[in-house]
Amino acid sequence: MPPYLYISGLSRYDGSTMKKIALTGIKPTGDPHIANYLGSIKPALALAGEYDARYFIADYHALNTMKDPRELAACIRKVAAGWLAGGLDPEKVIFYRQSSIPETFELASLLMAFTSKGLMNRAHAYKAAVQDNAERGADPDAGVNMGLFTYPVLMAADIILFDADIVPVGQDQVQHIEMAQDIAQAVNFNYKQELFKLPQAAVQEQVAVVPGLDGRKMSKSYGNTIPLFASEAMLLKTIKRMVTDSQPVEAPKDPETSQIFLLYKLFATKDEQTALAARYRGGGMGWGEAKEELFRVINRELAPLRERYNAIMADLAGLDRILARGAEKARPIAAATVARFRKAAGIDW
Ligand code: ADP
Ligand code: TRP
Repeated sequence: MPPYLYISGLSRYDGSTMKKIALTGIKPTGDPHIANYLGSIKPALALAGEYDARYFIADYHALNTMKDPRELAACIRKVAAGWLAGGLDPEKVIFYRQSSIPETFELASLLMAFTSKGLMNRAHAYKAAVQDNAERGADPDAGVNMGLFTYPVLMAADIILFDADIVPVGQDQVQHIEMAQDIAQAVNFNYKQELFKLPQAAVQEQVAVVPGLDGRKMSKSYGNTIPLFASEAMLLKTIKRMVTDSQPVEAPKDPETSQIFLLYKLFATKDEQTALAARYRGGGMGWGEAKEELFRVINRELAPLRERYNAIMADLAGLDRILARGAEKARPIAAATVARFRKAAGIDW
């Protein structure tokens, strides 16, 4: 099985021998959790090297929901430190904050003219908000700001601006990337040239949807996350909160229907997986023990990351310098894309 599923159509751009470009972003809307790591940070970092990587903190996206300035500032740094602790090398990856690239917002405005309102009406996040309102008998657009409604356009600008070929993300983001493709195609069609690359989503099948403590998709919005950089004691305490059924200790258990085992598989070796599956099937192992095994493998992988994270967070000026250098490298690329568009559009000549 290939390590990545390539969803959506094929890029029709250059065919040159230059490295292809991978780009992705994470919204700083809360403490990074293990699904962000497994579904986004880790697969994205595995691509750096083979691809020219451009990874960023999507801080303007976070503004839709984060209205407390201190909280937003803290989250931006936590997510940035998360990337670095996960192994991002700022010498090899262009690593920046979205807010440092004003061209993003210029391109987003330009793309608005090529995006039908109907496309935005179909976006999952907006539709979910409308449906939620309908269920509560509220106005369909209650609580929906224009940032949420036009979110896919800003995201398309993030992607198109940096000539991304592939966008490593979790399953939940695929629709947004397909929309970016539609918008890029609308521009190319209008100007009868391949002005923009058509990006593809790259979803790693195994971690497409990482389950959370309650078995639903792990997400900050469900409050069911396992934080990436919690202390060892807090990590264990969180894992102990995982929801299980009431089967007694002696009962043989099916590993494949257990959320604990599903998560275990993402951190354990093949041999460890076989051994724990046998213990499940053999009976005599309670959920408490299974959770301790899960803690052991998660902690084994996260302990070095936690150490690096704490060191980075102890030197915020150093972190800010890394991000500023990344922005310096990113801006000329962004400026070139906007200039290309303005020229094609008849705004510049
Ligand atoms: P959240 O749902 O907690 O708000 P974000 O939307 O900030 O998470 O997601 C950041 C990145 O992490 C995205 O690429 C997203 O696809 C990935 N991601 C988030 N939750 C999961 C999950 N449960 N499984 C796989 N990937 C996920
Ligand atoms: N929308 C993404 C999320 O919620 C974050 C994001 C913003 C992003 N811009 C992007 C991801 C561009 C990939 C490419 O997780």
